[in-house]
Amino acid sequence: MKKVSIWLVCCGYLFITACNSSNQNKTMNSDTLTAVGLPDKKAYQETLAGKTVDLFTLKNKNNVQVAITNYGGAIVSALVPDKNGELTDVILGYKDLKGYQDGKSYFGALIGRYGNRIGKAKFSIDGKEYKLDANDGPNSLHGGKSGFNTKVFDAKQIDDQTLELTYNSPDGEGGYPGNVHAKVVYTLGDDNGLKIDYTATTDKTTVLNLTNHAYFNLSGEGSETINDHLLQINADAITAVDSTLIPTGVMQPVAGTAFDFRKPTTIGDRVDAAEEQIKMGGGYDHNFVLTKADGMRAAAVVTSPKTGIVLEVLTVEPGIQFYGGNFLNGQDHNGKGGKAYAKRSGFCLETQHFPDSPNKPAFPTTLVKAGEQYHTTTIYKFSVSK
Ligand code: GLA
Repeated sequence: MKKVSIWLVCCGYLFITACNSSNQNKTMNSDTLTAVGLPDKKAYQETLAGKTVDLFTLKNKNNVQVAITNYGGAIVSALVPDKNGELTDVILGYKDLKGYQDGKSYFGALIGRYGNRIGKAKFSIDGKEYKLDANDGPNSLHGGKSGFNTKVFDAKQIDDQTLELTYNSPDGEGGYPGNVHAKVVYTLGDDNGLKIDYTATTDKTTVLNLTNHAYFNLSGEGSETINDHLLQINADAITAVDSTLIPTGVMQPVAGTAFDFRKPTTIGDRVDAAEEQIKMGGGYDHNFVLTKADGMRAAAVVTSPKTGIVLEVLTVEPGIQFYGGNFLNGQDHNGKGGKAYAKRSGFCLETQHFPDSPNKPAFPTTLVKAGEQYHTTTIYKFSVSK
């Protein structure tokens, strides 16, 4: 009798422990989004205009994993360890290819031919005017309505940590001159840095400003906000914008404004400040003029106080667009984790030449001459705060 009751007590204990631990797992997956995996590869596999679309995975020795589709060259997921060593997906993205085809927010995508806006959707080279797609009021945004984010790149997985993507953009595409051959190489290093190396050539003088439009939430994609993240940007000025987000030509010092991120500052502290530039952007949506340097240097650092995950952005570019996800409106219900992405639930740090440079002779030039090679590099490096 005694043996039977001990046996029953043990079974009860095991049953309760099992229930608790399965509830714990559920909570972990839906609330903190840790211990997640990569999305289903099959959901991205299709043939579009004779080209094969797929989902590629890069993995390093620390088990960091990055999934990239050759549709728009978009980063779909990045699983990185948090302060407890749990893998967390820090990239906002869609659970299938259709999400990327229908999406209007450029999630994770490569942007070309021109990152950010060109005023009045036109510019001139040597006295010849080129008219672009006006897809953002009177302006052209991110290469127009069929920018690189909508193209199927040719993909070659070089090894477990390297993916090479190429795309031939024909003369006149989106209104831009020159046949442009673009190559983008994603390399996931063992230092948990995702390097994006862009090269391009053209057969006619043109303008180019290539970047990536990844949205991050370092508390895990689907988490409510990024306003609790700490941000530091190595910039003394922004290029002030008008109400259509085109630079006025004024370099506005950040000192004494909501744009002073020279020391780590919580994003949400001043996001609704009563300042003209904040009103123009509906929050943060501005090009920061990075401190000058020769070659690669740290541009920005972001930390989630919840997960301790740190993102460091390094680049050779002169500027970085800090976009605080003001236009996300909860309508992107197709998110990987099944959650809608609400306003300010993701941020972008798009390394770039300044918006509207083709019409602003005082800005660093974006001209690429026939036969010249365009080259730029950015690294998104992950770590945890101690
Ligand atoms: C960029 C722009 C924003 C917005 C997003 C995409 O970052 O600066 O204004 O258009 O892209 O939604």
